[in-house]
Amino acid sequence: MLRRLHHEQPPSFEFTPANREWAEAQITKFPEGRQASAIIPLLWRAQEQEGWLTRPAIEHVAEMLGMAYMRALEVATFYFMFQLEPVGDVAHVQVCGTTSCMICGAEDLMEVCKEKIAAKPFERSADGKFSWEEVECLGACANAPMAQIGKDYYEDLTKERFAEILDELAAGKVPTPGSQIGRFASEPAGGITSLETTKGDRTEHNASVALALEIGDTVKRIDGTEVPLKAPWRDFSHSKGDADPDPDGPVLAGDHPVDETGADKRAAPVEGEGHPETFEPAEEATPGSKPQLMDQARDGGADDLKKIKGIGPKLEELCHSLGIFHYDQIASWTDEEVAWVDSNLEGFKGRVSRDEWVPQARELSRKG
Ligand code: FES
Repeated sequence: MLRRLHHEQPPSFEFTPANREWAEAQITKFPEGRQASAIIPLLWRAQEQEGWLTRPAIEHVAEMLGMAYMRALEVATFYFMFQLEPVGDVAHVQVCGTTSCMICGAEDLMEVCKEKIAAKPFERSADGKFSWEEVECLGACANAPMAQIGKDYYEDLTKERFAEILDELAAGKVPTPGSQIGRFASEPAGGITSLETTKGDRTEHNASVALALEIGDTVKRIDGTEVPLKAPWRDFSHSKGDADPDPDGPVLAGDHPVDETGADKRAAPVEGEGHPETFEPAEEATPGSKPQLMDQARDGGADDLKKIKGIGPKLEELCHSLGIFHYDQIASWTDEEVAWVDSNLEGFKGRVSRDEWVPQARELSRKG
């Protein structure tokens, strides 16, 4: 299918302050020089904010990530999760029309879309609430026919049930996603014929449906003012107090309350109030010993720390804020001092030893 930008575009795009903060936190998950890897979550959040992906939004995200606009456009036009034109305010319905779904009744579902939404794909319904399109396989073939509505899958659909689901959404309700004929997952439609013993241990819904119900954002816009309690990801730079922080890996939020950036609120308790439940702020001693730091660079200006492999503009800025400006400063660090700096590089912990700054700085210092 030809995917082009819509002929009418708004003049500009800005993330809301909370969404911008969230987007900046996503970028910190990737190593210096690899910020472009955050393109999909940022485009997705822009779409969640606006309802569809506009040209100014794509340009804005490309600028945030230091990417050529064309590269961001390539991503936006490749994946059909990104809507390049205005879609229904409540939901854009994507009906799978590939082999399994087509054999099992996808054409009936598209008939429902034509009756209840609009005659043609991407036309909005008269009330502006819905739009639809046929898409390629969404990977739920065993539960065909199916459709993605908003962020979730509705599977084992019949024409009648699909029509009901659209009616419920129009009435402001969000039907439970997953199989619509009571299948737990993709076991035989007539019931399990083996491994019966596991049946009694089952929860009401499979993990995917349970999480969708818990997060509750199937068809919800996200302007950043409200964040689900269980954000799947959070910025590892906020992982103070974690038992086993991995500076290079994402950290699951688990059951802890998170703020609008997805960060663990427990890391910043309100003075005098503490936190509910069992959290005790960790008393962490900074490891190692503090090296000699400077208030400002010497008269000739700071050295270009970005010449040290692994240091990019953000990390250089962070070094300056800590009082690190020169190669010879880094070159003189002992193991204890490396440990101190490693643990004080918020968002980049462990980079000094991982990227071997000290021998690199010695070499740069030697070359003058
Ligand atoms: S064929 Fe429809 S989900 Fe795969």
